[in-house]
Amino acid sequence: MIDIHLISQCTVEPDVDCLVIPAFEDALNEAAESKLLEKEDKSALTILIEKGNIDGKSNFYFPTPMSSYQNVMIIGLGKKEDVTATKYREAAGKAASTFQKMKKTHLLLEAEHTEDVLDSDNFVEAIILGQYHYNEFKSIEDDKKPVDITEICVHVADSVDLTLAQAKINLAQTKCESANWARDLANKPGNALTPSILAEQALAMAKETNTEAYVLTESEMKELGMNSLLAVSAGSKEEAKMIVIKHTHPDAKKTVALIGKGLTFDAGGISLKPGKGMEDMKFDMCGAAAALGAMRNVCIMKPAINVICVVPSSENMPSSAAVKPGDIVKSMSGKTIEIYNTDAEGRLILCDALHYTVTKYKPDMMVDLATLTGACIVALGHHYAGLMTEDDDMAEALTVAGDKVHERLWRLPLNDEMRKLLEGKDADLCNIGPPYAGTITAGAFLSNFVGDTKWAHLDIAGTAWGMKGASYLNEKLGSGFGVRLLTRWILNESE
Ligand code: BES
Ligand code: MG
Ligand code: ZN
Repeated sequence: MIDIHLISQCTVEPDVDCLVIPAFEDALNEAAESKLLEKEDKSALTILIEKGNIDGKSNFYFPTPMSSYQNVMIIGLGKKEDVTATKYREAAGKAASTFQKMKKTHLLLEAEHTEDVLDSDNFVEAIILGQYHYNEFKSIEDDKKPVDITEICVHVADSVDLTLAQAKINLAQTKCESANWARDLANKPGNALTPSILAEQALAMAKETNTEAYVLTESEMKELGMNSLLAVSAGSKEEAKMIVIKHTHPDAKKTVALIGKGLTFDAGGISLKPGKGMEDMKFDMCGAAAALGAMRNVCIMKPAINVICVVPSSENMPSSAAVKPGDIVKSMSGKTIEIYNTDAEGRLILCDALHYTVTKYKPDMMVDLATLTGACIVALGHHYAGLMTEDDDMAEALTVAGDKVHERLWRLPLNDEMRKLLEGKDADLCNIGPPYAGTITAGAFLSNFVGDTKWAHLDIAGTAWGMKGASYLNEKLGSGFGVRLLTRWILNESE
């Protein structure tokens, strides 16, 4: 865990190995005037600015061997009036790779001249997310191991209330640690993260944070009539699990529910997926990871709102016991489903989880997240997640929360016309629609199981891993997409 603390006096702790100064293209003098800079470096900086080496548009790193801080990193933020949190995180994310390469571990961030326009939280976020790596199963010699930043000291103006600012920064740190916790779950291969192991991890988190939680077994789910979920699990020797975590608050005015698709491996079942790229289907539990990651934040922060997190988890495998194309199952809601394609399994486990949540907990609002359709990547690529809801207020609130943390959503239509595309031949519903609008029909399928509850569905197939458009997220790894968005949304709703 990184030690992050604030100071208002101009001291450089002995172990600092890089002084970080944000700079605006149109106010470069502010960076050069930092009180933390030693005299010689101030002159060097002024010359570098004059010569155009430092332009405030991109980062500039240089050694200052005679100084107490040893190195300086100038973070280029562009024009002051155009600066945004996103730009700060982008630049800081790029700096994070430089720190890693140069093995810098103790940063001193100059924030005295940026406070009125920028939150240092953004820098902290980009560093914590940016230096995430996943080496659980790699043998790496000690000297080749990535070097992590262990300390960030933030220098602020005298006028800043240190206690308040420290509390804010601690919050930012927790949020990103939960995102990284979710990314650890996401990156684990299918054999290291089965539904049972996912359930253990979730229960351990709940226990650590003194939060109520329980896990339904297959026999309990059978008892409840969750035949749609159980049909998905039928082909696997791994038992399916339904994980439930409950945060309640005495002053809560509403209850929200988070549901996450937890397919720990999706081979497609009898409608087997092609071999190429199938290994990526270990990521088919990223909806669950996002819901649980956000829940971890809730469990730690304990906001004045009730939050229920429900995660249906299963494998989807072909075997002689597997569900077959054409099979008809009766879901917990009583609606019957014709399973034409066993690879459209996410909706089959989610529909029972949604019905269970709505009937047992009667939430005011519900959000589900799922790596649901390849079609979502075709439609929106790796920059935006798909958002489907019939509630305009929820669409707005979730989009705004997502924009704040650069987890962007793009709304797609959902209505009766779309629901019509999923009518079954011999059953109430079919689990696939026509060969177009695949993301929308998946959302439309789910909408049959939420009753009157306000609900939104996020298809994160394109953003859960391989996400583009954020320098601080390693594209090859799970992104934790949804954790920071949902946390933000829940905190907003609790106000
Ligand atoms: N997990 C996949 C969706 C997916 C595919 C996510 C690629 C990320 C990358 C899901 O279970 C699935 O296979 N969906 C099918 C639905 C189809 C059969 C209607 C799909 O997208 O092809
Ligand atoms: Mg099974
Ligand atoms: Zn599938």
